[in-house]
Amino acid sequence: MNQKILIVYYSWSGKTRKIAEIIHKYVDGTLIEIIPEKPYPKSYNDTVQQAKKEIREGYKPPIKNKIENIDEYNIIFVGTPNWWSTIAPPIATFLSQYDLSGKIIVPFCTHGGGGKGRIVEDITRFCKNAKILECFSIYGGESRDLENKVVEWLKKLELLK
Ligand SMILES: Cc1cc2nc3c(=O)[nH]c(=O)nc-3n(C[C@H](O)[C@H](O)[C@H](O)COP(=O)(O)O)c2cc1C
Repeated sequence: MNQKILIVYYSWSGKTRKIAEIIHKYVDGTLIEIIPEKPYPKSYNDTVQQAKKEIREGYKPPIKNKIENIDEYNIIFVGTPNWWSTIAPPIATFLSQYDLSGKIIVPFCTHGGGGKGRIVEDITRFCKNAKILECFSIYGGESRDLENKVVEWLKKLELLK
C-alpha cells in the first residue's frame, strides 16, 4: 500500500511530544509540532484558565505551521493533551484549516487521569468524511512500558513499518 504518513501534535509540557516521537520512530512519516503564534503561559494554572475560556468560546488560536502539501498524505496521526476533556485549541486550529476528507486519521492523547474524554468525538467533528482509527490514550505521567504500549497499538492498526 502506498502510504504517506504525517504525525501532527501539540504538547504544552512534553508528554504528548514523547508519544509523537515514539510513533515517529516506528512509522515512516513526517513529524510536525504545532506551535501557537502566541505561546501559552508558563504557569500551569494560567494555562488551565486560558484554555478553559478558549474552549468555551470555541477560539482557535493562530498557529505558526503551514503544511503546503497536506494532500500528499493519506494517513495523519493527530496528537493532543486532554484539555478540559477535549483537544487543545491549537489542534482545533490545525484541524479546521485543512480539508481532511478521505484521509485516515489516527488520534492519540495524553491525559491527567481523565482518559480520552470527548477527544475522539471532537476530532471526528472536524474531520468529516475521514476514517478515524482507534485512539491511543495514556496517562501523561506513565513511563512503564510506554514504548511497548505504543508499538502494540501501532501493530494492532497495522501501521508498524
Ligand atoms: C489547560 C489544561 C487542561 C487540562 N485538562 C485536563 C482534563 O480535563 N483531564 C485530564 O485528564 N487532564 C487534563 N490536563 C492534564 C493534561 O492532559 C496532561 O498533563 C497531559 O499529559 C499533558 O500533555 P502535554 O505534556 O503534551 O502538554 C490538563 C492540562 C492543562 C494544561
